[in-house]
Amino acid sequence: MTMASAPGKLILCGEHAVVYGQPAIALPLPDVRATATVESAARDSGVVCELPDIAERWTLRDYAEQPLGRLVELVARRAGLAAPGDLRITLRSAIPIASGMGSGAALGAALVRALAAHWQLAIDPSEVARLVYESERVYHGTPSGIDNTVVSYERAIWFVRGQTPESPPTIEPVQIGAPLDLLIGDTGVRAPTFVTVGGVRERWQRDREAYNRLFDAIGAVVREVRRLLEQGDQRRLGAALDHNQALLARLGVSSPELERLIGAARDAGALGAKLSGGGGGGIMLALVERDRRDQVERALLHAGAARVTAAIVT
Ligand code: PMV
Repeated sequence: MTMASAPGKLILCGEHAVVYGQPAIALPLPDVRATATVESAARDSGVVCELPDIAERWTLRDYAEQPLGRLVELVARRAGLAAPGDLRITLRSAIPIASGMGSGAALGAALVRALAAHWQLAIDPSEVARLVYESERVYHGTPSGIDNTVVSYERAIWFVRGQTPESPPTIEPVQIGAPLDLLIGDTGVRAPTFVTVGGVRERWQRDREAYNRLFDAIGAVVREVRRLLEQGDQRRLGAALDHNQALLARLGVSSPELERLIGAARDAGALGAKLSGGGGGGIMLALVERDRRDQVERALLHAGAARVTAAIVT
């Protein structure tokens, strides 16, 4: 039996503008993980995958077009096999599903690693990221590729997508000068990323000039955030995250629930707060000082957060 895992993720800044070629910064969440185990199964049983956390089970025969099913085929091909054969796969995840914390990408990365170990295939993070991206494209259209990249490298990254879907992205490590104390508040509102990404695209098509200016402004904030992260300047970092949120609201991807949580976090003393990921619902993050963390967490719950997750990123 082989087993592998991958972390959840958080987009710190630059979401949406990253789809249009601007940089974004993403962080791994090493304490919330997805794991995959792979073992050989009885002859002619095919590939059976169990997801005990959500009481689901699928076979490759009826799941070949889904991202995880496709991944099994892609990794088998990469291992030089004509077909994956007979396998029993178990997937588990502590990452909330469809929450903007990267559960799909983490399950994919864990699965690629466990399959690669099963077939004794040496595989590096860039290849894990590429395979997960390829499988997700079927499902999500043309994601920027930031999610699959950060969970595969498992470190803070600076990410700029390639000029075409085929050209590789620019990925650079980001230094974190001082540990980041973050709280992640979930609005409990499910807003599929492809919907908010599609909405931004429609508005951009109607007024390219205005939207390109907003994307440029977000890119400038992301460059500043990188400098402030390196310097460990938490106060100015908080202000830069607030600025990013104002620009995201102008893109039209915030929501009343997000604004309520973001406002509550700031009022309770957070250094800065913004939505994270696709927006329209989903999650927000707050940068806090250690001694204010409990206070901000209580404020988020009081303001209606369905769940608050604490993360320290080093
Ligand atoms: O919803 P998430 O956490 O997968 O983030 C989406 C990030 C976007 O920039 C909005 C889309 C993308 O493909 O990068």
